[in-house]
Amino acid sequence: MFEVLPPLAPDPILGLSAAYQEDSNAHKIDLGVGVYKDEQGNTPILNAVAQAQKILLERETSKTYITPQGNQGYIDNMLSLLLGEKSPVLMADRVAAVQAPGGCGALRILSELLVRCNEKTKVWVSDPTWANHIPLIGSAGLQIETYPYFDKDTAGIRFDAMLDSLKKVEKGDVVLLHGCCHNPTGADLTKAQWDAVLEVAKEREFLPFLDVAYLGFGDSLEDDAYGVRLMAENLPEVIIAASCSKNFGLYRERVGLAAIVTADTKTRKVAQGQIMSVARGIYSMPPSYGGALVDIILSDTSLRKDWESEVNAMRNRMKTLRAMLVDKLHENGADKDFGFINEQKGMFSFLCISPEQVREVREKHSVYFVESSRVNIAGINQQNVDTLAKALVSVL
Ligand SMILES: Cc1ncc(COP(=O)(O)O)c(C=O)c1O
Repeated sequence: MFEVLPPLAPDPILGLSAAYQEDSNAHKIDLGVGVYKDEQGNTPILNAVAQAQKILLERETSKTYITPQGNQGYIDNMLSLLLGEKSPVLMADRVAAVQAPGGCGALRILSELLVRCNEKTKVWVSDPTWANHIPLIGSAGLQIETYPYFDKDTAGIRFDAMLDSLKKVEKGDVVLLHGCCHNPTGADLTKAQWDAVLEVAKEREFLPFLDVAYLGFGDSLEDDAYGVRLMAENLPEVIIAASCSKNFGLYRERVGLAAIVTADTKTRKVAQGQIMSVARGIYSMPPSYGGALVDIILSDTSLRKDWESEVNAMRNRMKTLRAMLVDKLHENGADKDFGFINEQKGMFSFLCISPEQVREVREKHSVYFVESSRVNIAGINQQNVDTLAKALVSVL
């Protein structure tokens, strides 16, 4: 049976991690996989999460099945976090939602729901986009197209080209937008640019698909929700895939949310039944643990405050690391202006260097990151920043 299967090339990011593990250079630097790291290079359990785990241990009395939609407290808390406590669409009872196994699970079940609506649906993704968007959406059977997004030469967004492309999108097409902290480029739309995209969405009647995986890592929990709230409040229909992997540090617990803003309550009820049936047909119900932790944190004023300050601390640390890297690059004589790194947001930056330069810096200096030149900013620290800057300058 299985001999018919062709061998596959290893996943580029996981392959990179394996190569990093095997490298014996004591000064090796890992800027590959997208997880937050502290100054010591650890990915810690957030304090608020540790507290919530204790509460859950006391509170949980059964491991019986939960429902296909997941923990309702989690869903309600996440919807107000994303859409705002006084969100008009929530008040109007227009949002269907389920807890999903991570942001990936949310992206996939929403894609499956789109197939149920129309199997010929086209989904437009930014060029470039997070590599896993393609298999998550494409394997559901949807057709993928790209719109221009980032220009490596100017290290900026090709906004005019993006809008021109979106102006040709057809009614009923889906446009995937990164809610904040664009992965892989770190280049985010400004509020004025979001406003312009909204106008095109109204004109062309496309369906925005918002992927929100880094809320709070850009400017603030509120500011980072600008795009998602704008779309939800001004369009009849929007879909949202959110993840708690990064901002709650709950990577392995698989905590996500799939939400569908519908035109009215009647459609909301139908969409709720449909998305639950999609979930039931794939994994039956989401894992309970991580969603229960997020529910505890967001429901408790004091724990929520703790969590918010931890998110702020992670964001501020990454901003400091950006500035440190830019200063060190210039101090070490970089002839390229890397100031754009300070303007980019979230966990990632595109260094805008060539794949040959990326390979050279890996081979000669044991600095590991993907060939697109995307680096995980959180992999930088006080100890390695100078070595990193020197290594980069040497291959420019
Ligand atoms: C843009 C984007 N969307 C979604 C996800 C999904 O994350 P997870 O499935 O780990 O929650 C990620 C994770 O790296 C991401 O970068």
